[in-house]
Amino acid sequence: MKILVLHGPVLNMLGTREPEIYGSQSLAEINAMLLQSAAERELELEFLQSNHEGELLDAILGARDKGHRGILLNPASYSHTSVAMMDAIRACQLPVVEVHLSNIHARGELRRHSYTAMAAIGIVSGFGPDSYIAGLFLLSRKLSQMYAAD
Ligand code: DQA
Repeated sequence: MKILVLHGPVLNMLGTREPEIYGSQSLAEINAMLLQSAAERELELEFLQSNHEGELLDAILGARDKGHRGILLNPASYSHTSVAMMDAIRACQLPVVEVHLSNIHARGELRRHSYTAMAAIGIVSGFGPDSYIAGLFLLSRKLSQMYAAD
């Protein structure tokens, strides 16, 4: 079962970027944790980080044709701004789980609203890298329910 893991803008700077908020783990370390967790569930992961909205939109919209069954997405700041990404999630015909390292509801007004969360099946926020691990677990549970008869 293939899952696309998408990391939005500025997440390539994890490790050195505001560690008091986002922790000290790099994106490569988070991806390595995810791979370990995926192996335990016989999931295959493909990763993409991009600082470009259009590239992320194309990845979301093309995921189904590339054989992905679901998307684990940290839209980063696009959560709070991108109606286009909300539309892409709604159009992609795949379950999308949104994750955030920080608790977006415990931060400034600017980050409290997420357009993308309005289209995702659910959201995990505030657990650091464990948000990704929990998100992957919940997405894989959802997929096993969806494909129970396969
Ligand atoms: C983030 C939260 C967003 O508000 C912020 O713009 C990010 C990271 C998180 O993972 O906590 O870039 O998505």
